[in-house]
Amino acid sequence: MKENVLQLLMQAKDFISGEEMSRILGVSRTAIWKHINKLKEEGYTITSITNKGYKLSFIPDQFNAHELQNLLKECKLIDEYYTYDTIDSTNKQAKRVAAEHPVTSALFISEEQTLGIGRRGRAWVSNAGTGIYMSMLLRPSIKPVNAPMLTLIAGLAVCTAITELTHLKCQIKWPNDIVLNSKKICGILTEMSSEMDYINYVIIGIGINVNNETFDETIEQVATSLKLVGGEIYSRKDIAVGIVQEFEKLYDIFLKEESLRFILDAYNQACVNVGKLVKVEVKGEILIGQSLRVTEQGDLVVKKEDGEELIIHSGEVSVRGLYGYVD
Ligand code: BTN
Repeated sequence: MKENVLQLLMQAKDFISGEEMSRILGVSRTAIWKHINKLKEEGYTITSITNKGYKLSFIPDQFNAHELQNLLKECKLIDEYYTYDTIDSTNKQAKRVAAEHPVTSALFISEEQTLGIGRRGRAWVSNAGTGIYMSMLLRPSIKPVNAPMLTLIAGLAVCTAITELTHLKCQIKWPNDIVLNSKKICGILTEMSSEMDYINYVIIGIGINVNNETFDETIEQVATSLKLVGGEIYSRKDIAVGIVQEFEKLYDIFLKEESLRFILDAYNQACVNVGKLVKVEVKGEILIGQSLRVTEQGDLVVKKEDGEELIIHSGEVSVRGLYGYVD
């Protein structure tokens, strides 16, 4: 009910009376007043004037499903919105919801994660209120073999949205990190449930360090935040909304083409690997070479010292000059 009161306040251009809200929502005016007080306790500024009613004048930078739905009302990508104060992992929650009910697409965002997961079984530090922890649940009609390309689409969407909104020059570290000043600000974890020729669902989990001021000593050499670089507090909500909007534009084209040809120039320009020396671990073997480009299948082309060009589909890549890799 509190969410419905908030929705009415957000929809109202000006003041809306308690009487009108109680009529629309079918509850007493006292109930409306109680929900207004609850919203104020959560940081919303709501002006009240006798005979005029209530007006919403400040919305805190917290995630609220109704508000996100409202901000993304032009967006056709997401059918359902789920927000949490705390959750183990938004990717795990997306899987649970996908298993329980036949939703086509959904966005999951939490203020914190108690068991945030990164790639290769690592943990993703997800403290309350500082970062963005979001997962998109999608059911694309594409070949399962092409699903990894969605990570690159998401990477470009994150990079573009952050650069536009903050004017900080982000880069993509193939295939799924976003970096700023040679340190990581975002990681993407794409998971899939599929059969041989059919995708049941894809979950694209995105973790972004937005307003973090410090990092645990285990990651401080490799991680940074938008605030640490830009010196400002950034709106997590604006960034999350910007990413979904940017992703939708690219996703629509990708579903038709099932190739990354249409983003190749932009991707290669934003890709920090290109032209750099990289160390790649493939199936336990270490290869060193110069990265040349990312292909329309989303692979990284690396030229070894002997001139041979290798196509890297996936693997752990260290880029010289990033995350402390200097040898
Ligand atoms: C990486 O290792 O770089 C990927 C990190 C992905 C973290 C995000 S945060 C939102 C979503 N939920 C998770 O548990 N993980 C992803």
